[in-house]
Amino acid sequence: MSADVGLTGLGTGAGLDAGAGLDAGAGLDPPYDYAAYRSTTLRAPKRPLLPMPGGETERQGPLFGAAGVDPSDHDLTLSPGGSPIGERIIITGRVTGATGRPVRHQLVEIWQANAAGRYHHPVDNHDAPLDPNFTGAGRCLTDDDGRYRFVTIKPGEYPWANHRNAWRPAHVHFSVFGTSFTERLVTQMYFPGDPLLALDPMYQAVRDRRAAELLIATFDLATTVEHWALGYVFNIVLGGRRPTPGDEPVGG
Ligand SMILES: [Fe+2]
Repeated sequence: MSADVGLTGLGTGAGLDAGAGLDAGAGLDPPYDYAAYRSTTLRAPKRPLLPMPGGETERQGPLFGAAGVDPSDHDLTLSPGGSPIGERIIITGRVTGATGRPVRHQLVEIWQANAAGRYHHPVDNHDAPLDPNFTGAGRCLTDDDGRYRFVTIKPGEYPWANHRNAWRPAHVHFSVFGTSFTERLVTQMYFPGDPLLALDPMYQAVRDRRAAELLIATFDLATTVEHWALGYVFNIVLGGRRPTPGDEPVGG
């Protein structure tokens, strides 16, 4: 498939009033089967999903909290061997629930490619160098205000086999557990002004344009640290009318 089939080619635009007028379910989450993203057709359910009634387990837990999370796990640039190669950046934001309340003391995990666009993973055979000082994985807990903060390296774009000359925009994968299974979100954060967003089937699969723009971080001078790192803000909303879109539909 060529890159222009099924893709809208819309610009990315920054500064959206986050979530304004969005309706959960109206193109917010990507469909299971999205032709432009070829592998979804192979793995999408062929029969209607069976809804599972939510019980106490789904509403109350289990929670993934402080156990095993080291305070330094938020800094992906810390390595015994030295600093990773690339542009140091800060990514921060608040995790809030459907009513705007902060999601406190909950686990936020990220994973990403290195500055050359390669993952520290055995199945990644992209012809780009690995960085011995960068695993690309980090985690932290939100604070009392639902805020998280990572220090990392700006990820590189990388090719993938979806279609001819296909390249993923620079992105950081996020997993947020929330306070129960019903709030779990796995999604991707993008960077403002990336020309590959208009050509990326994963980004374009969020068909509501305003919802898709919620996946683009905002450059923030107040987060930027002089002579050290640029700062980006990426706020995440779990559930409600204005949720952050995920990688998969919510609840089928
Ligand atoms: Fe990725």
